[in-house]
This record gives sequence, structure tokens and C-alpha cells, in this order.
Amino acid sequence: MQLAGKTEKSLNIYFRMKFAVSFANGGNEMNSKAMYNLSYGLFVLSARQDGKDNGCIINTAGQVTTEPNQITIAVNKLNLTHDMVAATKKFTVSILSEKADFSLFKRFGFQSGRDADKFLMFDGKKRVANETLAVTQGTNGYISAYVTQQIDVGTHTIFIASVTDMDVFTDVPSATYAYYQSSIKPKPQPLSKAAQGKTIWRCKVCGYEYVGEELPDGFICPICKHPASDFEKIVG
Ligand SMILES: Cc1cc2nc3c(=O)[nH]c(=O)nc-3n(C[C@H](O)[C@H](O)[C@H](O)COP(=O)(O)O)c2cc1C
Repeated sequence: MQLAGKTEKSLNIYFRMKFAVSFANGGNEMNSKAMYNLSYGLFVLSARQDGKDNGCIINTAGQVTTEPNQITIAVNKLNLTHDMVAATKKFTVSILSEKADFSLFKRFGFQSGRDADKFLMFDGKKRVANETLAVTQGTNGYISAYVTQQIDVGTHTIFIASVTDMDVFTDVPSATYAYYQSSIKPKPQPLSKAAQGKTIWRCKVCGYEYVGEELPDGFICPICKHPASDFEKIVG
């Protein structure tokens, strides 16, 4: 099996996890839809390295202890923001609210800072104490933190960090992942004439469509980097 972009170390982690799962559940069928019942918030994770600012959308920030105040984030190793956080140990998560526009997701989640300056011509930002940029548009607050530990979990790194600064901007409720799916992400367009009769796999996160009977092994969405498990099959 080919797994795109995997190092030998992350392949080891992948096969160890596969083995642990089949050992623990005795080979039973699982209803993987349960994963969609987990609730998440949405955030712009930002970092600054060598004078360059960048950020990406994540849904994986959460508080793990209050005393001391520590948070975790899980970031895909393919993301430029991952490398910037790993190198500088400093980051800010700006908490997306229900006022967040889809354009924010496109700006920070559907393109890489390797190809675009995401903060260029973007007014909704504020330089905060740790020198990163917090996003002030479509957000209700921010939390800055300093990385104290990191754990390699294969495709992603979990960063554990101590909170160094935070503030609240508004009392607009935070956007959950479910709210993003139901009320922020545009509804899918009807299939074009050319696509009718073909099998399409649509990314549930960003809407990218792949035409073909099956997704290739190890397929990752070229737009938002989510894996094959986040694609739904649509038969035209
Ligand atoms: C709704 C949504 C949720 C996302 N959640 C995560 C996440 O939890 N972790 C992650 O690493 N990437 C996540 N992404 C993907 C990154 O935001 C995306 O790959 C981004 O383009 C990376 O940019 P960078 O290379 O400039 O860091 C998400 C994207 C979207 C649209």
C-alpha cells in the first residue's frame, strides 16, 4: 500500500496503530460515522518565523489542564504552519465565531502559505504579545501559547503548550465544525453535464471533487489536505 508523504517513522506509527485497533476490538465492524458526532471548534492557527506570518484553519485546539493552563493542537505535518510552530514554539489560535465568512476558510484553509501570503491585503488582524498575528475578523477571541512538548502521531504532530496571553473580542458564539458544515460552507452545486453518469468523490470539508471509481490509495485532498475518509461518494 502506498501512503502519500509518509516517512519510515510515521509508517511505523501507522502500522502500530492499525495493529492495536484490530487487537483491541477483536476484528469487529465499526460504525465510523460516530467520529462525526465528536464536537469541535474551529480556529485560525497562526505563527511567525523569520519575519513571515502565516496561519491555517484547524479544528483541533482544546484545553487539557487549567493549573497550569495548557492547550493542545494537532497539526498536519504537510502544513507550513506546522513547521513554523515546530521551529519557533510559539503560536496563536484565533477562535472562529458564527460570524466567520467562508472567505476566511478559503484564505487560511484552502491554500498553503508556501504559495500565498495569506495575511497580505487582509485587515482583520492584530499583532499580539508573542509577535504572531491574531485574526480579529470573524473571531471572538484568541489564545497565544508556548510549546512545551510535541508528540509525533504519524500524519500529524500534537503540540502541548502553555497559555501565555489571551483576550475576548465579542460575545458572538464560537463556530462549531457542525455549524461550519450546515451554515458557513456553501451548499454543493448540482453536478455538471460532464460529470453526470460518473462517480465523484466530494471532500466533506472543502467541497473538492475527484472524478473516478475509487480514490487512489493514501489520497489526500489537494485543497484542504484532509484524508480519503473525509470524502463522500456521489454517483452522477
Ligand atoms: C474546516 C477545516 C478544518 C481543518 N482542520 C485542520 C486541522 O485540524 N489540522 C490541520 O493540520 N489542518 C486542518 N485543516 C487544513 C489546513 O487548514 C490547510 O491544509 C491549510 O491550507 C494549510 O496551510 P499552510 O500550509 O499555510 O499551513 C483544516 C481545513 C479546513 C477548511
